[in-house]
Amino acid sequence: MADIENRSKDLVDKFIELYGVAPAAMVKSPGRVNLIGEHTDYNDGYVLPIAINYETMVALAPSNDSTVCLYSSNLDRTSVFSLDKIVHDRINKWSNYPRGVAWMLQRKNIPIEGVNVTIDGDVPMGAGLSSSASLEVAFAFALQAIFEFEMSGAEMAVLCQKAENDFAGVKCGIMDQFISRLGKKDHALFIDCRTLDYQPVPLLQSGIKVIVADTLKKRGLVDSEYNTRRAQCEEAVTLLKRRLPGITALRDVSVADFRKYGMDLPPTVRRRAEHIVHENDRVLESVKLLKQGNIEGFGKLMNESHISLRDLYEVSCRELDVMVEAAWNVKGVYGSRMTGAGFGGCTVSLVDDSAVDDFLKRVSNEYKARIGIAPKLYVCTPENGAEQLEYEVPEII
Ligand code: GLA
Repeated sequence: MADIENRSKDLVDKFIELYGVAPAAMVKSPGRVNLIGEHTDYNDGYVLPIAINYETMVALAPSNDSTVCLYSSNLDRTSVFSLDKIVHDRINKWSNYPRGVAWMLQRKNIPIEGVNVTIDGDVPMGAGLSSSASLEVAFAFALQAIFEFEMSGAEMAVLCQKAENDFAGVKCGIMDQFISRLGKKDHALFIDCRTLDYQPVPLLQSGIKVIVADTLKKRGLVDSEYNTRRAQCEEAVTLLKRRLPGITALRDVSVADFRKYGMDLPPTVRRRAEHIVHENDRVLESVKLLKQGNIEGFGKLMNESHISLRDLYEVSCRELDVMVEAAWNVKGVYGSRMTGAGFGGCTVSLVDDSAVDDFLKRVSNEYKARIGIAPKLYVCTPENGAEQLEYEVPEII
C-alpha cells in the first residue's frame, strides 16, 4: 500500500494538470475481504467482511456542463460521457462502474451535474477484493460530497449494487458495496443482507493479523458459475417451499428444517443448499465467538467454511485449495479459507502476530513449489468504509 498522503498529492497534481483547477473534494473507499459467510448475501443471509487498507481514491470538481470526464491514473486512460445520455464504454470497461452510478442516480431522480474526475486505486484488480465496488462507492460518495444529496450509507450501497447489476451487468449481491461504504476500523461488519441491519464486531483485540493471499489465477469461470449457483439456490427454495411454505430464501431454512426436508432435493441442488444453510449458521456462531474473544473457535469455522465451499458449493479450485492447505500447516494460523466468489482470487487467513513471518515465507514457498508461481500476499488491517480526505492545494493557481 503506497502512502495515502503521497497518493492524494499526486492525484491533486494530476487533477490540476488535466483540468486547470483544484478538486472540490477527494474521497477514498476501500476494497474488502470476507472473513466468513460466502455466497450467502444473495440468499438474504449473513456475511462478516472487513474493509481493507487498499482503496480507490477519487478527486472531483463540477465541470459546469453535463459532461463527466473520468481519468484513471492506474491505467492512464480517459473516458468521457454526457449525463444527457449515459451509454456503455466498450473499450474502457472500468468506466462502466462510475457510469452505472450516474445512471442509477438519474433513475432515482437525484440531481447531479457534470464533473471532472481523477481516480487512483491500489485494490488489486481481478483478484476478488472488490476493486469495482470500491470504485462505485468512491464515485457515489464523491458526488454526494459535492452535490450534497440525502442518502444513507445503506441506500448508497444498494444504489451501487444496482449500478453493477443493471448497468455493468454483473449479478453480484450487496456485500461488497455495503462493506466498502460502511466498514469500521479494527472491526468486521456483521451484515444481515435481508434487513441491511449491521453491527461492528471487534476483531483485532488479541494480536492477530488478517493475511490475504492472491492465487493470481484468472477467474475465468466465475461469472457463469456464479449465476448457476444463484439459480440452484432459487431452485432449492422453490422445491423446499412445498414443505416450508413460509420461506422466500434459503436464509429462512434452519439447520433442523434442512435435516428434515433436505433429502427431497436433487443431489446437486441439495449440496448447494446445505452449504448455504450451514454457512449462515456459521456466521451467527462466528459473531458470538468473536465477541467472546474466542479466535480459535472462529478459526475452526473458517476452515469448515472452506471445506463446505470446496465440497458442497464447489466454487474452489486447485490453486485456492493448495494455498489454504499451506496455511493450515503453519503453526499460529487460527483459520484459513477461500474468500469471495471463488474459482481463483484470494484466500483469507487469521494469523497470530508471532506467526506472520513464518506464514509469509512458508505459504509462499509451498504455493510456488506446487503451483509454479509465487503468490501475492497482503497483510491487511480492518479499515473504515468511504471517507472524505483532506488535501492541500499547491499555490500555482
Ligand atoms: C462476489 C459477489 C458478492 C458475494 C460473493 C460471494 O464477491 O460480488 O456479492 O456474493 O461473491 O460471497
